[in-house]
Amino acid sequence: MERHATNRYIRPIADYNREAFEPVHEQASADGRPLILDSGCGTGDSSRALARMYSDHLVIGVDRSADRLSRHREATPENCMLVRADLIDFWRLANQAGWQPVRHYLLYPNPEPKPRHLKRRFHAHPVFPDLAALGGVFESRSNWLIYLKELAIALQYHGRATTLRPLPETDPALTLFEQKYRASGQRLWQLRTDDLEILQ
Ligand SMILES: C[S@@+](CC[C@H](N)C(=O)[O-])C[C@H]1O[C@@H](n2cnc3c(N)ncnc32)[C@H](O)[C@@H]1O
Repeated sequence: MERHATNRYIRPIADYNREAFEPVHEQASADGRPLILDSGCGTGDSSRALARMYSDHLVIGVDRSADRLSRHREATPENCMLVRADLIDFWRLANQAGWQPVRHYLLYPNPEPKPRHLKRRFHAHPVFPDLAALGGVFESRSNWLIYLKELAIALQYHGRATTLRPLPETDPALTLFEQKYRASGQRLWQLRTDDLEILQ
């Protein structure tokens, strides 16, 4: 964590990510509504749900899988944009462009449970300082408690206190993974930064 916080991540940004980011940045800047980022949005169901919940915000869902993004089950609201890009570059571009999303969701990230894949977890990746710097009320959900505990430590390292709790069963399912895990009786967890006051 310390190494990643003190050394800037310098891997060149791929052209396709820059090309994906630029029109979104242009549109978001012209739009003027507060931003909500849905990182790793999969099919975009959560982005659409968030756009309906926060109808005076602009929700941007990002996923690297064109296949998942193409699996639309419903119409996308006008205040929602879905983008195909790799978050490792997208977060850096967003940070460089001065984005300040008011909310940032990372719902059911790939858990990468094998110890040898630790570096694939976003909080162990050199891009994490860029994610942390984007700010906003950050929320992650997972069925894998260890992942969220590690993520909480990484956020704490960057000065963001969090609360980790079981996801209330009364909360509507935001994503397909949430629906699937709930249906199979799995316990789900919610990690959220303790800074709701920044929205007031
Ligand atoms: C387990 S799925 C969860 C999808 C969705 N959030 C949900 O809960 O239904 C993880 C998603 O993260 C995306 N993903 C993983 N690493 C990514 C990266 N580096 N950049 C963009 N998307 C990524 C995958 O393509 C996948 O859609």
